[in-house]
Amino acid sequence: MNRNLALEFVRVTEMAAIASARLMGKGDEKAADQAAVDAMRSMLDSVDCKATIVIGEGERDEAPMLYIGEKVGGGSDNCPELEIAVDPLEGTTICATGGPNSISVMAIGEKGCLLHAPDSYMNKIAVGPEAKGCIDITQSATENIRRLADVKKCRPQDLTAVVLDRPRHKELIEEIRETGCRINLIGDGDVSAAIACALPDSGIDILLGIGAAPEGVISAAALRCLGGDFQGVFQPKDDAEIERARQMGIEDINKVFHMNELAKGNVMFVATGVTTGSLLKGVNFKPWGATTHSLVMRSESGTIRHISAEHHFDKKPRY
Ligand code: FBP
Repeated sequence: MNRNLALEFVRVTEMAAIASARLMGKGDEKAADQAAVDAMRSMLDSVDCKATIVIGEGERDEAPMLYIGEKVGGGSDNCPELEIAVDPLEGTTICATGGPNSISVMAIGEKGCLLHAPDSYMNKIAVGPEAKGCIDITQSATENIRRLADVKKCRPQDLTAVVLDRPRHKELIEEIRETGCRINLIGDGDVSAAIACALPDSGIDILLGIGAAPEGVISAAALRCLGGDFQGVFQPKDDAEIERARQMGIEDINKVFHMNELAKGNVMFVATGVTTGSLLKGVNFKPWGATTHSLVMRSESGTIRHISAEHHFDKKPRY
């Protein structure tokens, strides 16, 4: 994959972030999401690639833009064929309420590299590079925390787990508390949370619990770039979701998907902050335009770029 594409794709998340950030705190999740979708879709055609959306806003009949299977990119005949997983606004509620850590995000892989995940839940575990190879989602949270403490040469009390604050996690939270491990309960946004596990100064050591499966694939791509680890198991809510997964090529719904199966080959990850959080600064509007802060990563090189950009709206008619 042409490495310059990463810098092309960051323009896409920058534009989506700016569009949705205009609606921060307005209490309208749908409008904020739609603004991000519209901006991302229009900007994608300016990237010199031929790509298929494999994770997007939903099925073709329910999403007019960025639907699964949609062809995007304004590439010439010799362009690489890519697959893209998008979440134009990850943390719609966060943005609508002006909370921390909403981002616009994309993972990009060569054809056949990103798992085509149905829109169901997924049980997830994520850790940073020191614990790569030590986790096992089939084991209890207690066992995974014990292994993490061993490898980090600390006590469980010195670790912090991040968990989505949901009633479904009541028992998980109790179990984690029993180990002594500290907990950071978050309202939304488990992509940022998974990434935080691999950032040395985030204060987060492990992500545990159930979130959305599409976000699991995007998180796996990010952790591939960061050298961390991730595992996921689908948690379908009914037979229809199992059937949908089967149609998408997932024969064994109970299978443990390892990071390299969710996002294999050379992958890129780009994200731009919408609202300020621990991972990225949010969009800051100025009299002349806006500033953005983005993360751009490639698994092949392991390069992690933080890109701060000034967008002068008088010179950018699209904004
Ligand atoms: P949206 O951006 O689609 O609102 O997703 C936010 C999120 O918190 C994800 O990060 C997470 O994986 C998922 O929702 C959890 O789903 P639920 O809110 O149904 O528990």
